Amino acid sequence: MIMISAASGALGRLVIDRLSTRTDVVAVVRDPARAPQGVQVRRGDYDDPASLRAAFEGATRLLLISSPEFDPARRISQHLAAVAAAGDVGVGAIAYTSFLGAGTTATGVTEAHHATEKAIRDSGLPYTMLRHPYYSEAFVPQVSEGELTSSTGGRGLNTAFRSDLAEAAANVLTGEGHLGRAYDFTGPLWSCPEVADALGVAYREVPDAGPGAMSWLNAQVRAGDLEYQSGDLERVLGRPAESVLARLKSRHTSQAV
Ligand SMILES: NC(=O)c1ccc[n+]([C@@H]2O[C@H](COP(=O)([O-])OP(=O)(O)OC[C@H]3O[C@@H](n4cnc5c(N)ncnc54)[C@H](OP(=O)(O)O)[C@@H]3O)[C@@H](O)[C@H]2O)c1
Repeated sequence: MIMISAASGALGRLVIDRLSTRTDVVAVVRDPARAPQGVQVRRGDYDDPASLRAAFEGATRLLLISSPEFDPARRISQHLAAVAAAGDVGVGAIAYTSFLGAGTTATGVTEAHHATEKAIRDSGLPYTMLRHPYYSEAFVPQVSEGELTSSTGGRGLNTAFRSDLAEAAANVLTGEGHLGRAYDFTGPLWSCPEVADALGVAYREVPDAGPGAMSWLNAQVRAGDLEYQSGDLERVLGRPAESVLARLKSRHTSQAV
């Protein structure tokens, strides 16, 4: 049985979609009323270890999708409860949606991921770390009045779309040769000025809108922190990942039609 935890979220639903032709897929959700349709469902709440043990029973593969909890201590305790439950019932292997850099750093976004990767390694369970970049959806630039603006300093972004990361996870869950590996998933490098140029619109750098999540992310982009590239996502997909430019062009085409 292939279990997907946090399966009611955006990423989990895409993974379930990719596996929809199989009969051995189980959506593990904290609220069964929010479960995706067409698959078996079990209740598993990261804050309720007993529910996780019951949910993971019989799993040959478990995709542990990270919790959206912001507080690192709480997020770590949720993830460690899931890893302990997986160990208690002896799941066949865990694939974990980690974050780029979590193998070596434990600050900010990587704090909980680093602790979770360590717990998975220490558990002795076969594993695959799926280290995600930031999701492209948060960064797709908007063209307004014939120009594209951003506060990214023209630097590169290695973001990837959830759809490709979901397909890669499905490939890992159903394929061979992925155990004991940590994949650095990065999308094709892109920048806002390049996208503006390809779309034939002007590019203008603007100051950040002010404090908030997007300003915090833009500062990382301007520092060049998102320019790291690895071929892991393309290799696991067996094709190039979708670029932000391609997504923008398909959106423009479908709007024109
Ligand atoms: N790399 C990035 O840029 C990026 C961006 C956003 C998020 N993330 C991470 O990637 C994960 C998946 O992303 P997403 O877009 O699918 O997020 P999402 O749509 O917000 O989904 C989050 C999922 O976590 C579930 N959840 C929340 N608390 C839980 C608990 N106590 N026990 C079990 N499940 C719980 C939610 O269940 P309900 O449906 O019941 O609420 C939902 O299924 C996120 O949770 C977050 O850790 C990464």
